[in-house]
Amino acid sequence: MLNSVFSKLTIIGSIMMCFMYQSCTNAPSIDISNEALIPVPSKVEATNSSFQLTSSTTLNLIGDEKELTPLAKFFNNRISKSTGFELKVSSKSGVSKGINFVINNESKNGPEAYYLEISENQIMISATAPVGIFYGIQTLIQLMPDAIENGTLQERDWFIGTGIISDSPEYAYRGVMLDVARHFFSIEDVKKYIDYIAAYKMNGLHLHLSDDQGWRIEIKSWPELTNIGGKTQVGGGKGGFYTQEQYKEIVAYAAENFVTVIPEIDMPGHTNAALASYAELNCDNKARELYTGIEVGFSTLCTDKEVTYQFVDDVIKELAEMTPGEYIHIGGDESHATAKEDYIPFMNRVQEIVLKHGKKVMAWDELSISNIIDTNVVVQFWDSAENAKMGVSKGAKVLMSPAKKAYLDMQYDSTSPLGLHWAAYIEVDDAYNWEPMTYVNDLNKEDIFGIETALWSETVTNLDEIEYMMFPRVTAIGEIAWSKAENRSWESYSNRLAKHGKRMKNKGINYYESAKIKWEVDAVKENPIKG
Ligand code: ACM
Repeated sequence: MLNSVFSKLTIIGSIMMCFMYQSCTNAPSIDISNEALIPVPSKVEATNSSFQLTSSTTLNLIGDEKELTPLAKFFNNRISKSTGFELKVSSKSGVSKGINFVINNESKNGPEAYYLEISENQIMISATAPVGIFYGIQTLIQLMPDAIENGTLQERDWFIGTGIISDSPEYAYRGVMLDVARHFFSIEDVKKYIDYIAAYKMNGLHLHLSDDQGWRIEIKSWPELTNIGGKTQVGGGKGGFYTQEQYKEIVAYAAENFVTVIPEIDMPGHTNAALASYAELNCDNKARELYTGIEVGFSTLCTDKEVTYQFVDDVIKELAEMTPGEYIHIGGDESHATAKEDYIPFMNRVQEIVLKHGKKVMAWDELSISNIIDTNVVVQFWDSAENAKMGVSKGAKVLMSPAKKAYLDMQYDSTSPLGLHWAAYIEVDDAYNWEPMTYVNDLNKEDIFGIETALWSETVTNLDEIEYMMFPRVTAIGEIAWSKAENRSWESYSNRLAKHGKRMKNKGINYYESAKIKWEVDAVKENPIKG
């Protein structure tokens, strides 16, 4: 008798516990503080249970439906191939069971900040703007089992660890440059590149659209630029260019992924393709031959001729009209064939042209020897710390892209099959172990516009090769740009990257398997697999 009363009490007790703590599901315990999140978030608190994503999980939108619907679509697209689920989406007035995207005004950390709260019954991502929700989604996807990255249906359970993540970026601008001039890449490749960078919360795509070897953007008022200048590339392949419609398609796709395109027309040097297209841009009125080698520093626009400024004006005008982003990059690097006394007035005048067309100026660090004509000018430090400091002393901000750390086209080591090494060999730890704040001394945080990594394409010819040079180093630079210095360490990053390898592998990314990382690609993730 006593026994049976006792057992009834135990059953009632466990039912009460079940209601109080919602522990009546058999949710496996997952510790989200052990998840391989890159870039590392500002704050992670694990509560060691799990949410199960199923085909009947609903996606609840709380806020402007027009803003949130594309994010629901993005999330469904990201998970549907592996899970087979197409989550039902509906607008709600408050948070309820399922996954909730919430726009509110509570965050003080800017539009890119997000708050992610996961409990057994519901997930909430809140932010003040859609971009914050987008970054919360990127984190949520990294919290899902690695199999989410398989492109085919996976028969398994989808558990996500519970806890709270609050996160915001350290630098407002976090970019990646792609050189489409030395080798041309298709729109599909560029879109893939955008997917890759957005996954690590990077928000700038700097397209290097012209160089000695190719002119890659249609300019209607100067059609030979692409008819002639777009015809080839390094090694003599067929080259190519983007029509204005295609460029707009890239810009729009980037915008859907909260990435801003910064187009670069490099000048007065790195202009052989333009000089081959129009004889009048040369001081001797003789069109140059197309160039398919990889030397630098031999070409220059004729800075004394008025037609050169008409050319620059027309190009910047058309580029500005199809570029919603604030910045136009005017190059200015390695103009060894331009006399300094010609370079300075040329760059001054080109800056004026950019401002006249309603845009802000970005240029490589050599710009600093000319005037800095506006407080919004950004000089991109790649080579000379002296130039970076001179730029700041003249009122510019600095975009940090040190070639010795942030150039993705540098070989990893002397055995790398692709890449160059004129700046350095850059192993994964080299790419990770530097501090933007102290790399150039005497700079203050306010002087730094952001961080950008760069992929020049002298030796890179297709998407597979882009992936090999990009991964995993882009994840290192992405973390430096997003995460707080006090949360970053090589030990932590390299451990997370070791686990992240499985995810890259599942995505089909051709990454470099650095010997510096103890890859766990064969390790089975802790989430239970069905069957
Ligand atoms: C550069 O690497 N020439 C900017």
